[in-house]
Amino acid sequence: MRDQIVAGNWKMNNDQNETQTLLNALKSHSKPKNVRVMVAPSFTQLSQSVSLLGDDVITVAAQNVNAAASGAYTGEVSVSMLKGVGVETVILGHSERRSLYHENNASLANKVNTSIESGMEIVFCFGEQLEERKSNRHFDVVKEQLSEALFSLSAASWSQVVLAYEPVWAIGTGETASPDQAQEMHAFIRNLIQEKYTENLAQEVAILYGGSVKPGNAKEIFSMEDVDGGLIGGASLNADDFMAIVNAF
Ligand code: 13P
Repeated sequence: MRDQIVAGNWKMNNDQNETQTLLNALKSHSKPKNVRVMVAPSFTQLSQSVSLLGDDVITVAAQNVNAAASGAYTGEVSVSMLKGVGVETVILGHSERRSLYHENNASLANKVNTSIESGMEIVFCFGEQLEERKSNRHFDVVKEQLSEALFSLSAASWSQVVLAYEPVWAIGTGETASPDQAQEMHAFIRNLIQEKYTENLAQEVAILYGGSVKPGNAKEIFSMEDVDGGLIGGASLNADDFMAIVNAF
């Protein structure tokens, strides 16, 4: 049975006080036993979040990490810094990092390798732009994103990988992929992994959908066979909305 996961990507939201308010609200909700719940605050709020959550089932992820172990990289944060504050998961490859900060498949491969070698879990994001879908290139784009950044990993390393398909045209737009579009892509991804590795491995990897998931559409999307949960942006900033999504399986 694959993990079912709902992760909140807070992006550049929630300062010290807002983090405290939101996490206390999330703590007060009861959570289903069969769903892993994560939140990804800004770097400055990671330590606070880990200690505030204590032994709650919600875990804390970072939104980015540098590929180098240490050195002259002004403004950057290393894997050991994340681990030092109790963070064991990192989101990599988000479309905003790709478009605004010029991350690409090659630079992401370095971040993936460093993170995996250091024992981190990664939530690896990828997905096509609107023009790529309109011109029917979405499968090729996704195949390239996955193969260039992930397909040199050993089979054993995949126990540390969660995938997040986030079509760029659905992020923050209020427009979601239809459940059928999500299922079609997730099945395609699982098939790619099966071709490269094994059927068992393909069946074990959790593939999340991200892009305008809300309490009103989560159940339908999560009910698709190859959709194992969601990576949530805007709706993760509201405790009731986020918990409604967590409970949507
Ligand atoms: P929205 O849920 O706001 O569309 O954002 C999705 C996302 O980018 C999660 O990483």
